[in-house]
Amino acid sequence: MITVKTVRELRAAVARARSEGKRIGFVPTMGNLHAGHVALVEKASQRADFVVASIFVNPLQFGPSEDLAKYPRTLVADQEKLVAAGCHLLFHPDVEEMYPDGMGGQTIVNVPQVSDGLCGGSRPGHFEGVATVVSKLFNMVQPDLAIFGEKDFQQLAVIRKLVRDMNMPIQIIGEPTSRASDGLALSSRNGYLDDAQRAAAPALYRTLQQMASAIRAGRRDFAALVEEGLAELANAGFRPDYLEVREALSLRPATEQDQHLVILGAAFMGNTRLIDNLAFNLQ
Ligand code: PAJ
Repeated sequence: MITVKTVRELRAAVARARSEGKRIGFVPTMGNLHAGHVALVEKASQRADFVVASIFVNPLQFGPSEDLAKYPRTLVADQEKLVAAGCHLLFHPDVEEMYPDGMGGQTIVNVPQVSDGLCGGSRPGHFEGVATVVSKLFNMVQPDLAIFGEKDFQQLAVIRKLVRDMNMPIQIIGEPTSRASDGLALSSRNGYLDDAQRAAAPALYRTLQQMASAIRAGRRDFAALVEEGLAELANAGFRPDYLEVREALSLRPATEQDQHLVILGAAFMGNTRLIDNLAFNLQ
C-alpha cells in the first residue's frame, strides 16, 4: 500500500490502476480505524481490483462545540489495518490540500430534505460538510464504487441522494453495522467512554431492539413507543438527543402502513454522543 498526501499523487496512482483496466473501489474515513471500517475495506477489495481509502478529519462537518481537536488520530495503526484488509492506496491529505482557498469561500453541497432532522437537526451544517467533502473526494478519486456503513444511516441516505441528483457514475454500497459482542455499534467515539459508561452504552441498541420487537408484534403507536424508549435510555444513564421511527427508504416519519422501517437514535453518555439505528421489514 502506498500513502499519498496530495491530489496530484492520488490522481497519478489511480490513473495507473485504471490504465491497467482495474475497477476502482473507494472507502472514505476519518481514521482511528476499527473492525467496522475494516469490513468496509474488505468489501471494497471483494468488489474492486484497486482499493483506495482516505483518512481525513474534515473540519467542515464538525460544529464549533464538537470534538474536532480531540478526534483520535492514529495513522500508523490505521495503515497496518488497511494493508491487512487489502487496501492499495491511502489518501491522507492535510486540511490545506483539501481546502486550499480556506473553508470560508468553499462551495457547499446541500442535499435537502434527507439532511433535515435526526443528526441534521442536532448538528446544523453537519451533512453539508459531509456532502461537500465526499463530493470533493469523489471528484479526486473518481471511483467506480464507494462503500459506506449503515451505522451512519442518514449519511448513507444523503450520499445516495447526492450521487443520484448529481449524476455521479459511482455505485454506492451500504455495509451492515459492525458491533461489539454486547451489541454496541463500533465507533471511534466509544474510546471516549470510561468503564462504567462503556458498560451502560449497549442500552442504546437494546432500546432499538425492544422497540422493533414491539412493532413486529403489532404496535403502531409510534409516539408512545418513542416515549417509552426515551425513558429506557434515560434509565440507563443516557441523555437522549433524538429517537424516531422513520420509513427506511425515504427517511420520512413512519406511518402505520409502512413496511420498511428504521428506528434511529442518538444519545449522550456523559459528553460522548453515540448514534445507532435498526432497519427492518414487516412481513
Ligand atoms: P467515519 O466516522 O470514519 O466512518 C467512515 C465509514 O465507516 C462510514 O461509512 C461509516 O458509516 C463507517 N462505519 C463507522 N462505524 C461503523 C460500524 N460500526 N459498522 C460499519 N460501518 C461503520 O463517516 C465518516 O467517517 C465521515 O462522515 C466521512 C464519510 C468519511 C466524510 O468525512
